[in-house]
Amino acid sequence: MNLTELNKIAKGMVATGKGILAADESTGTIEKRFASISVTSTEENRRDYREMLFTAAGAEQYISGVILYDETLRQKAKDGTPLVDILNKRGIIPGIKVDKGVQALPGSDGEKITEGLDGLAKRMAEYHQLGARFAKWRAVLSIDAATGKPSRQCLVANAEALARYAGICQAANIVPIVEPEILMDGGHDLATSYAATERTLHTVFEQLALHNVAFEGMILKPNMVIQGEQAKVRASVDEVADATVKVLLRCVPAAVPGIAFLSGGQSDEDASAHLGAMNARHPNLPWKLTFSYGRALQALPLKLWGGKAANVANAQKGYLHRARLNGLAAVGKYDPKLEQEFKAA
Ligand code: 13P
Repeated sequence: MNLTELNKIAKGMVATGKGILAADESTGTIEKRFASISVTSTEENRRDYREMLFTAAGAEQYISGVILYDETLRQKAKDGTPLVDILNKRGIIPGIKVDKGVQALPGSDGEKITEGLDGLAKRMAEYHQLGARFAKWRAVLSIDAATGKPSRQCLVANAEALARYAGICQAANIVPIVEPEILMDGGHDLATSYAATERTLHTVFEQLALHNVAFEGMILKPNMVIQGEQAKVRASVDEVADATVKVLLRCVPAAVPGIAFLSGGQSDEDASAHLGAMNARHPNLPWKLTFSYGRALQALPLKLWGGKAANVANAQKGYLHRARLNGLAAVGKYDPKLEQEFKAA
């Protein structure tokens, strides 16, 4: 493990005013996204869509890295250039999703465990050779106050898997993105999300320490502290921002270079506003706070693209708009008024 190198990559991933594009949808997930715009998920369509995102001129001002799916890491653009080369040429760091998705966790009440550790060291060596410099592993947790979810069983099992994954990454000189995602599904309030997030992050960092993961060479990708999607009482933007920063200060060591949030189904505007408020209201934090958004960066360009080559320029404009506003949020300069600057052609 070369910690100097890992730390340099991690710092690059959270460089000032930049964040990460999560474009690592599995074949099943991208199929669902494409179905929403009535596009068939073929290898060529997936390539065309991602090529549209990666070739958007100027995105590198706001995007430090892109998380890819296995297929994309090996794919070539229409003109034969490997997609990884397109990213590297712009100074955007390629990353790779390495978990193999979730399965039922036996002995639990319907909770999930993320799989993919077997053979991971070998896969990691190949990914490094293919150009990946960071990786992602996502644990999926849900809140159900009535049944005590996430259970300690589920937290410990997933935290251990995250820590073992992170150790394997670092041994291969790949920066692990450690992602314990608590889903927004449910009617829980902000305090319940806070408590679940605190228990989760304490458990994750305990396991990371147990497995000797170097905090300087990793990025945390957490959910924000936010009420459930079906909750009647909605917390304000500032309440979400303050609760999220509070829990992170209590749980995340200062040695971690950066925290890059998932958007988790928040609206595009909410995802930007929450990140913006965190950075505006809490300017002197020990780590960078930025984005690693999937849906909140892609929903707009996906819709504008609609599977048609003629729409590429307009879709790229939409993508750049979201990337720029999230880049501003990462330095506390997001203003909802900026939303009006985008006009689709
Ligand atoms: P969302 O921002 O759409 O939640 O996706 C981020 C991600 O990478 C989830 O693993």
